[in-house]
Amino acid sequence: METLATNNAAATDIYRPALHYTARDTWLNDPNGLIFHGGVYHLYYQNNPLGNVWGNMSWGHATSTDLLTWTEHPVAIPCDENEDIFSGSMVYDRDNTSGFGAGSVAPLVAIYTSAFKPGSQHEGIQAQSLAYSLDGGYTWTKHADNPVLDRGSADFRDPKVIRYDGSEGSYWVMVAVEAKDFKVVLYKSEDLKIWEFLSTFGPANATGGIWECPDLFPLPVDGDPENAKWVLTVNLNPGGPNRGSAGQYFVGDFDGTSFISRSTMTSGLNGADLRGDYQWLDWGRDYYAAVSFNDAPDNRRLMIGWMNNWEYANHIPTTPWRSPMTLAREVSLQTIDGNPSLVQQPAGDWTALAAQEPFSLAETTINDGEQVLPGAAGTVQRIDVSLAPGSAKEFGLVLRGDGAKGTRVGIRPDEGQLFIDRRESGETDFHESFPSLDTAPVRSTSGSYDLSIVVDRCSVEVFAQGGQVTMTELIFPAENSTHLGVFAVGGTATINNLHVTQMA
Ligand code: FRU
Repeated sequence: METLATNNAAATDIYRPALHYTARDTWLNDPNGLIFHGGVYHLYYQNNPLGNVWGNMSWGHATSTDLLTWTEHPVAIPCDENEDIFSGSMVYDRDNTSGFGAGSVAPLVAIYTSAFKPGSQHEGIQAQSLAYSLDGGYTWTKHADNPVLDRGSADFRDPKVIRYDGSEGSYWVMVAVEAKDFKVVLYKSEDLKIWEFLSTFGPANATGGIWECPDLFPLPVDGDPENAKWVLTVNLNPGGPNRGSAGQYFVGDFDGTSFISRSTMTSGLNGADLRGDYQWLDWGRDYYAAVSFNDAPDNRRLMIGWMNNWEYANHIPTTPWRSPMTLAREVSLQTIDGNPSLVQQPAGDWTALAAQEPFSLAETTINDGEQVLPGAAGTVQRIDVSLAPGSAKEFGLVLRGDGAKGTRVGIRPDEGQLFIDRRESGETDFHESFPSLDTAPVRSTSGSYDLSIVVDRCSVEVFAQGGQVTMTELIFPAENSTHLGVFAVGGTATINNLHVTQMA
């Protein structure tokens, strides 16, 4: 197996994250083919092997054993003169249903969208195709009879294939999108080659942009395996809660044929703006095309998103690489206000990578204004903080600050809002839509607000109230903006406790 580079070792540029995947010197977008196989997590992704803007779409490849540090490998499935290799997924075909296996070796099978190029036999069409690997995912052969599923559509893409084992039997199920119709289409197959139409889902809830990159998986509600619900996720662009690209989800049932949502808001379809009522995967500007791993250990459901937004994706000021992936997140279903809702936690063993004992504060008052916390500075850190309101209208943390400016993550208790304000986060003028103050609804039943925040050179990921609400955003601070501070506006607030762990 040839290894190109470990992204961390190559981290010489100031924006290159340490704990998020970036390609060494090329462009990436959507995570593809996420699978745990052979003891490693495989992350394939939309990659331009020849540049750092979107184009020449191929599947890049990286692996990890801890979900925090990644190793880049050579391009897995390159584009050619006939097709771009758009997003898709991967299964381990352990019973060799596809016949791609050899001897005792069962194949990994990638199901991807062929975006056919001008001049090719299927010009203008997007259809689903297969490639297989017999060496654990490092080298790939395209199926001779591609595409295997063609609806004659120009916008049929992003197949996610799962193994369904339920009351209706055992078979492969594909969810893909008719992007411009706001529809998820479902198919089944015995052999990954012949696909039978099952049903469609949508339009439903947010339809502000085209629908892309769906996923479908079961999860126990409140950890009870006797009470499982199905989650259908679908990304949309634009139309996110704070502009641009974002992902929404539906909770319901899947009977082997159809997905029945229990979380569709009916009035939204009449034109009412129900953004606040939809279920979003993330409220920040930079969490898109999120999909989950197949075959993750212990039935865990782990998701990764692309940490960027199509509004300005090609313009973010990084070089020679462009775009990080988000952290891997473990998702689960928790009943909140009577409704099963997705709750997310950063995955991986954070203590193993901690560089030193955490910086900690016990109960401390935050006075009006901003106070830098001596000893807590850093550029790659995990912050766990519990905050309680006082007389201040808003309060919170200043990340990657210089004493005057920085990125603010705060709470407006009267408005029930969590926010990220990146208007003074550093470099913001590369695109007019980048500087922003973005909000998410957040509630406190205990009176406190618990935030876990991961800062990684060019990014901030906030997991609020035990992961009930998440916000993910890119930032591009100056190299010497390393202060961590706290702030309150128009009064005081309280830090119940604070732990800052510098990451190696
Ligand atoms: C989502 C997306 C997918 C498509 C891929 C192309 O970001 O537009 O729908 O397969 O990117 O790179």
